[in-house]
Amino acid sequence: MIAVEHLVKRYGRFTAVDDVSLKVEPGEIHGFLGPNGAGKTTTLRMIAGLLEPDSGRIVVNGHDLAARPDAAKASLGFIPDRPFIYEKLTAGEFLRFHGGLYGLDGNGIHARVREMLDLFELRRWEDELVESFSHGMKQRLVMSAAFLHRPRAVAVDEPMVGLDPRGARLIKDVFRRMSAHGVAILMSTHTLEVAQEMCHRVSIIHKGRIIAQDTVDEVRRMAGGHDEHLTSVFLKLTGGSGLQEIDEVV
Ligand SMILES: Nc1ncnc2c1ncn2[C@@H]1O[C@H](COP(=O)(O)OP(=O)(O)OP(=O)(O)O)[C@@H](O)[C@H]1O
Ligand SMILES: [Mg+2]
Repeated sequence: MIAVEHLVKRYGRFTAVDDVSLKVEPGEIHGFLGPNGAGKTTTLRMIAGLLEPDSGRIVVNGHDLAARPDAAKASLGFIPDRPFIYEKLTAGEFLRFHGGLYGLDGNGIHARVREMLDLFELRRWEDELVESFSHGMKQRLVMSAAFLHRPRAVAVDEPMVGLDPRGARLIKDVFRRMSAHGVAILMSTHTLEVAQEMCHRVSIIHKGRIIAQDTVDEVRRMAGGHDEHLTSVFLKLTGGSGLQEIDEVV
């Protein structure tokens, strides 16, 4: 599980994350939606322990991140929006290195690395240098690394960006399977169709504040209408389509 309580992050006088609370239960896929600059990445980086909150509390799988950072981080898989991968390593080397950071070693790690390479359809490239990988292959490699140590919770920042339909399908299937096995997944996305298709619940963040938090159906109903597509609900909640502004400057 991932529990975030009254989280605040300020940059000078600007409040990027403003009293955000959310909870992702075991087995839940929770969508984190909001326009550019809303505070999604900032929140996810705090959950991953990469950025210190000004106030609020984060609990990952029962471990308070401030009090027990090692235990909290060891039980989380984090997939950043712009991952860093050592380009001069092969896929297999990268995963074994990553596993080592999480305390995996010995014979077990080789089998686990192969399992991940198979799952993310990268086995053929085990001994190829990462620098030769396409964007989609790198994305799948980063996913393999995040799931390698069997985390019970995963925080992922825009996993579908730049993936072809087959790659996107694969990632969706893996997330669904992981959630069926009880993994809690918090996923930021701009792809409302993805949220609608995959998420049990969503939180919508706007200017650092949560403005809606519920099931997709309930959020849609709240914005006035059962049949409405999540896209128009989102535009309503965050203040219009922007088309008027475009008309004004054209
Ligand atoms: N290091 C920083 N210093 C100052 N302001 C920052 C810093 N990092 C983020 N911000 C600001 O905080 C706000 C939230 O940024 P964040 O990256 O969390 O948004 P986001 O919801 O992930 O947006 P996107 O959809 O574009 O990825 C933005 O206004 C951004 O400019
Ligand atoms: Mg972001």
